[in-house]
Amino acid sequence: MNAIPKTVAAPSQFYFAAPPFALACPRCRGILEVLVSRARCAECHTEYDCVNGIWRLLLPEREKYFAPFREQYQRTRAQERWGADNENYYRALPRVPRDDPHRAMWRIREKNFRRVIAWIGAATSLRVLDVGAGNGWLANQLAARGHRVAAVDLRDDARDGLGARRNYFFAFECYQAEFERLPFAPAQFDLVIFNASLHYAASLAETLQEASRILAPIGKILLVDSPFYSHSITQSPNRPNYFLTFDQLNRTARELNLNIEIIFADAEWHKRARRKIIARKLGREPAHFPIYTLQSPPVP
Ligand SMILES: C[S@@+](CC[C@H](N)C(=O)[O-])C[C@H]1O[C@@H](n2cnc3c(N)ncnc32)[C@H](O)[C@@H]1O
Repeated sequence: MNAIPKTVAAPSQFYFAAPPFALACPRCRGILEVLVSRARCAECHTEYDCVNGIWRLLLPEREKYFAPFREQYQRTRAQERWGADNENYYRALPRVPRDDPHRAMWRIREKNFRRVIAWIGAATSLRVLDVGAGNGWLANQLAARGHRVAAVDLRDDARDGLGARRNYFFAFECYQAEFERLPFAPAQFDLVIFNASLHYAASLAETLQEASRILAPIGKILLVDSPFYSHSITQSPNRPNYFLTFDQLNRTARELNLNIEIIFADAEWHKRARRKIIARKLGREPAHFPIYTLQSPPVP
């Protein structure tokens, strides 16, 4: 496992304003030197800005590449009426009012959130990265519990993306960036969480490899609320997300030399009958939502 790189001597007009996480250039992986709300790569000299509290670390060519996905995703989420106009809604997540259009979904999310919190247990001040953080509700909940949290997402909109940060009491760092180019120096997070987001990864292997690059030596990747299936399913090319299979995850973990542990299997007896009914309705296997950790094996 790589150690955190030493900071390089900063040019005179730049200084390190003690950012909570060491940033790396998404273009060349050089260390970013931070001056208040601007960062500059010590290697390739690309500059990045922090605007409205969000570090803009998506390269222009990647912004262009993701534009159709962002538009489609945003349109669907608006049609499905995600988000709200008041800050109390965001602060209470994953709990939502009775009349929320997505109450059933949020109740499942809340159960898994409780499982994650129980699993974290008494650990304090963990350095956590919430990848594909959306409106940042999990980052907020973890910051409220005293952890040092960073949130990454492609989208910065105020209702359903990182821009919703303005609603929260508890501070966490926000980075507009992508799964496959996480803008962080190696080996600094205790936990990298994909919360309902891993199934958007265009490449599972590259995404998990990138996440493991920034894990501290005994850090873990935590996978929550992504749908998993026993067999691969053909899907419409218009779908912005992908079907993950257990085999695919096991194979990828083996290739990357990551150990998998199941925290919650989502296979309880009382769900089996219900699954059969749903399978008949859908004409395919309904998804499982297990909770996994992945971790590099201990150094002997
Ligand atoms: C279903 S949402 C989950 C949001 C949040 N984690 C939650 O639990 O509500 C998936 C999020 O992943 C983000 N996302 C998808 N592909 C991404 C990528 N390649 N890099 C960064 N974020 C991505 C989307 O913008 C979206 O906010």
